[in-house]
Amino acid sequence: MARHGRSHVSPVNPLDLRAWLAEIRKLGELKEVAGADWNLELGAISELNVKKDSPPALLFDDIKGYPRGFRVLTCSTSSPARLSSILRLPVQKTHRGLVEALRGKPAQWQTAAAGFAPVLVSSGVVLENMQKQPDVLAFPAPLWHELDGGRYIGTGCSVVTRDLDSEWINVGTYRVQVHDRSHVALDMVPGKHGRIHYEKHKAAGKRFPVVIIAGCDPLGYLISGIEIPFGMCEYNYMGAVLNEKIAVVKGPITGLPFPAAAEIVLEGFVEPNDERSEGPFGEFHGYYPGKAGTAPVVSIERVYYRNQPILLGSPPAKPPNDYSYSKAVMRSALLHDALVAAGVPDVKALWAHEIGGARMFNVVAIKQRYAGHARQAGHILSQCGVGAYMSRYSVVVDEDIDPANLQEVMWAVATRTDPATDIDIIERGLGSKNDPMFVAYRYAAPLSSKAIIDACRPWEHLHDFPAVAEASKELQEKTRAKWKDLLAP
Ligand SMILES: Cc1cc2nc3c(=O)[nH]c(=O)nc-3n(C[C@H](O)[C@H](O)[C@H](O)COP(=O)(O)O)c2cc1C
Repeated sequence: MARHGRSHVSPVNPLDLRAWLAEIRKLGELKEVAGADWNLELGAISELNVKKDSPPALLFDDIKGYPRGFRVLTCSTSSPARLSSILRLPVQKTHRGLVEALRGKPAQWQTAAAGFAPVLVSSGVVLENMQKQPDVLAFPAPLWHELDGGRYIGTGCSVVTRDLDSEWINVGTYRVQVHDRSHVALDMVPGKHGRIHYEKHKAAGKRFPVVIIAGCDPLGYLISGIEIPFGMCEYNYMGAVLNEKIAVVKGPITGLPFPAAAEIVLEGFVEPNDERSEGPFGEFHGYYPGKAGTAPVVSIERVYYRNQPILLGSPPAKPPNDYSYSKAVMRSALLHDALVAAGVPDVKALWAHEIGGARMFNVVAIKQRYAGHARQAGHILSQCGVGAYMSRYSVVVDEDIDPANLQEVMWAVATRTDPATDIDIIERGLGSKNDPMFVAYRYAAPLSSKAIIDACRPWEHLHDFPAVAEASKELQEKTRAKWKDLLAP
């Protein structure tokens, strides 16, 4: 009990996108765009925008064929300032500042998550409007890329599902393709948590309840789009980041919870065995993978939305893309923690490169402590829960190499490896039908090989390995100080 006899009510957070938009508008990080077309133009503008050095977030209004106010937001997470504000860290203008501010936080959030179960509230702005006759095309779902198989209402979205034999609620980001006004397909890759929930319902012949959140505070899709441990609810993790529990309302049809200030929510069921064609779709690694596959289709029974709803889009494409920056930052931090948790000592720095969509080319720098340390770090990087999906190259370098600097990393690969002994190959690893190389693999299932490149100086030769032919730190500093004008960047 608090003083004055009133019970203490902790603040709850309904994941209101508009509060966050007001903040980034003040920071000068938001640009409003009028008159663009959902048919390829939103996608192409966003794609070109994100290739700029400091891309703003884009809020599209007056979208062709749609009433004013039915908006789409893109590029929400693609700058250090916006990403730090989403993560409720002190706002950082530089990439280095963000990485430093983030250090150690994911491990703290994960530990704290158990204490942040979401709080059920009776109402919220998400319920301002309801469609009993669902029409998902009332919202300007874009055709993002020229060869996409259709319009995608879900990219920067979160999909809420429940386990069949436990109370575990999972919130994952899976792309959502519009089939018609009341049917959407869900591309959940095997092994993803929502997919596991689905497979259990399918095996039991049961309807699979689904809620799709197509817009809220971007913390929502930032966390639902990254590998949070099996069995943990992402709402708890988001609460730990915010230091406030998430306020959710319960879907009247499915009982599944969604944020009280969500922008647009679709609610329905996958009927047993209702799987239809899905894709193709331009993906995070920069290709349209293979051909269209099949995916479970959700029959939408209700749509809820705020007045003047904002669809949160996050279109993938050849990197850098809408979310490659935020995924590089987040996955690097989570992988660093995963290696430490697995007992790898002296991890100095780690980077999941944007060129590999923050999945396919990951580099860790260690201070070698014992024979075999480098291989241990490389194999765990390649196989841990956060990293295993589509990890193609895992590179280990010594601590004098900056793992985020490709020039330095590839110099170490070129000069500190003996290919015959320093590249380990794992066959039949966790791959994906979305892998552009899948067409050429000899496996029928989504398996792929993985390489671990040990680009550290050989352990037995740490002391007689040739010295680096570069001015020493001290000589560099002295020279820079003396020749300031000549050497200024
Ligand atoms: C914008 C975006 C789109 C994504 N699309 C998909 C997708 O279509 N299918 C998929 O399996 N994973 C997709 N992912 C990756 C998953 O969200 C990610 O692996 C996440 O960990 C899945 O949640 P889960 O671990 O609870 O299964 C996407 C991620 C982002 C950020």
